[in-house]
Amino acid sequence: MERNFLLNNGLTIPSLGIGLLRTPPEITSITVENALALGYRHVDTAAAYGNEPEVGTGIRNSGILREDIFVTTKLWMTNYGYRAAMEAFEISLSKLGLEYLDLYLLHWPAPAEFEKTIQSYRALEKLQNDGRIRSIGVSNFSISHLKQLAEYTDSVPAVNQIELNPFFIQEALIAEHQKLGIVTQACSPLGGIYTRSTAARHCNVHPLAHEIIKSMAERYGKSSAQIILRWHIERGFSAIPKSTNKQHLQENLAIYDFTLSEEDIAAINDLNTFVRAGSDPEAVNSSSFNITLGEC
Ligand code: A2P
Repeated sequence: MERNFLLNNGLTIPSLGIGLLRTPPEITSITVENALALGYRHVDTAAAYGNEPEVGTGIRNSGILREDIFVTTKLWMTNYGYRAAMEAFEISLSKLGLEYLDLYLLHWPAPAEFEKTIQSYRALEKLQNDGRIRSIGVSNFSISHLKQLAEYTDSVPAVNQIELNPFFIQEALIAEHQKLGIVTQACSPLGGIYTRSTAARHCNVHPLAHEIIKSMAERYGKSSAQIILRWHIERGFSAIPKSTNKQHLQENLAIYDFTLSEEDIAAINDLNTFVRAGSDPEAVNSSSFNITLGEC
């Protein structure tokens, strides 16, 4: 039942996908092939991840029909503006070797030049109207960015992909998504972002190693990763864990045969630290921002 979530345009998105952030090109196509062979049908990349060609190769090598795979990529901020966005879309599509995208996201807001962010979204709307993209959305947008966007555009984003894990649960933003009919998508859903963020040094334990999660895992006979991913799905969040390890890939997909109790979901919500590990979307600077720092 929770294998797919309904989007606000009537289409669906598989609740779980493979995230390809920080997946080096040389192991991307085999990772995508492995994931698709294991049953994944949702692949998430971005122009800024530098692995779109290899994602496309993995999809083609899998032998699985294109229409059975949900493919997302993202527009990087240096290509914001209506025409630049159109051009960057064609480049991404051609690197992927695909005819259309299932989901195209604005990767980050560009707060200092939000007009360009709006123009980029308009380009996405046009591409969607032309049938080149099935659904469009945003990533790392705050409540105020969503409000500004709504003032100047015709459609509500189908998805907002954000930093979201048991240590940072973004309740106000989630409530806004629910009000607007936006599907929340969790980037770095296992909290992988905590292993590479200097902003998160105060957290001396990784979400996967947290005692509450570990004891739940033991009680349910599941792994910590499965507990966290199940928490996302039950809260209605699409999740795109990154893994290049076949065993982890398999484990992360095996989360549809159990449910968490309401108390356990609440206990995971209570792990919230209110501290963001990645960049603050209100403060990002499109010219100096560097995806290799390990951001979503
Ligand atoms: P690996 O690629 O070796 O599996 P996130 O998606 O939250 O950023 O987390 C990604 C990190 O979590 C990666 O370092 C990944 O390593 C690791 N990871 C992914 N799945 C699992 C799992 N089932 N158990 C333990 N670690 C995992």
